[in-house]
Amino acid sequence: MSKTHTDLRNDFKDFWEESPRSHKHIKPASLVLKNDPTTLFTGSGMQQLVPYLMGEKHPQGKKLYNIQPCLRSQDIMEVGDNRHTTFFEMMGNWSLNDYFKEEQINWCFNYFTKTVDLNLKNLHFTVFEGTNDVPEDKESFDLWKSHGVPENHIHKYGVDHNWWSRYGSPTHMPEGEIGGPDSEVFYDFGENLNIHEKSKYAATQCHPNCQCGRFLEIGNSVFIQYIKNKNGKLEELSQKNVDYGGGLERIAAAVNNNPDVFETDLYREIVMEIEKNVKKKYSDEKYQSQFRIIADHLKAAVLLIINGVEPSNKEQGYVLRRFIRRTAVKMHQLGGGLTPLPGLESIIDRGILRVYDGVLGIDRSKQRSNVISVISKEAGKFSKTLDKGLREIEKLDFIDGKTAFDLYQSFGFPLEITEEFAMVKNIKIDDESFYKDFTIELQKHQETSRKSAKKRFGH
Ligand code: SER
Repeated sequence: MSKTHTDLRNDFKDFWEESPRSHKHIKPASLVLKNDPTTLFTGSGMQQLVPYLMGEKHPQGKKLYNIQPCLRSQDIMEVGDNRHTTFFEMMGNWSLNDYFKEEQINWCFNYFTKTVDLNLKNLHFTVFEGTNDVPEDKESFDLWKSHGVPENHIHKYGVDHNWWSRYGSPTHMPEGEIGGPDSEVFYDFGENLNIHEKSKYAATQCHPNCQCGRFLEIGNSVFIQYIKNKNGKLEELSQKNVDYGGGLERIAAAVNNNPDVFETDLYREIVMEIEKNVKKKYSDEKYQSQFRIIADHLKAAVLLIINGVEPSNKEQGYVLRRFIRRTAVKMHQLGGGLTPLPGLESIIDRGILRVYDGVLGIDRSKQRSNVISVISKEAGKFSKTLDKGLREIEKLDFIDGKTAFDLYQSFGFPLEITEEFAMVKNIKIDDESFYKDFTIELQKHQETSRKSAKKRFGH
């Protein structure tokens, strides 16, 4: 029998706690960040460790691990294929100036080939090819090879794929930001499924970082050893660190030897509950993207609510609102509803809370009624204007940022909903003004509301 997500969690814990690795578990950071001016959510395990990667002493030592719930809301439009999700859990380990490449690659190799028990013939590895400032990572290449990885399964890439910092490649790193070259592990679902040939990338050569979906990135060891100095140059940090992260959902897909993360036990129940509600089959390819968006967004919404977020027009509350509204649109397209309650209740309760009961801070019996009530209220309000808004969009032949703002004001349509409908209905979008003017109008509106509130309440 294939491993469950609980097995994968336990295996990961045992692997890092066992000697000679002897790592200490650190509490995952909160998913929702309250006082961070740079970001609304935790998007990777290393975020809470930045001071320690830069030299501060960590109270639990130099060898750490955890499973970090992450939300990358900026990826919202990527969801719909076999592997992108906004919410995921990152299994991570860190060396704060303790071990470096040799141990990390050895352990990473053993973790995937022995503990997770993936077949070496399906694994590919990537290393940094170097730039003028940073040398090629020959050491990692040789280390993978020393474990018996054939050279044609070790690939070299540049800064776009094999450099990691919170801001991306070295040119995007602001002063004081840390980062480094990385070495990734990919699972190959094989040629037989013809994933590449059936994709829109068929005319190009397939390779591990190809976007067709044949390969899935399941682990990333970042060798954090650089900092951007005030002259805009990369400088060696005073210490050498390892920052590893691998997505639980993707590792589960590799274990199943099935490229669809929505068919793992982390999504299977919610997909089944949606099927019951909309009376359509997930296996029908024409509905798959809608199923995946609903499953991803509802899960993210549940996690946000559990972390104390309420739907609103700003920051985390607005992200939650967008998740719920987009879910409502997708349900509408599939012919189901987020109201009345029975369907919604089982999707949330059996599809999400039951699967995660006891992990991620989820306590099914205590949280159920609040989560269901927040989502159904928000979706219910939006559903009232949805049809009207759609009819209005259909009358248009061109949408600029101001019109998009009007649609938001009158019908509550976040930008991505308008954008998607415009695409489906072949309505032209003014690319230049769409985001820019929408944002300007939104800021003007927020300023006016702030002033009138001040007048009303006299402070
Ligand atoms: N920080 C790296 C990532 O997010 C590895 O943990 O991929």
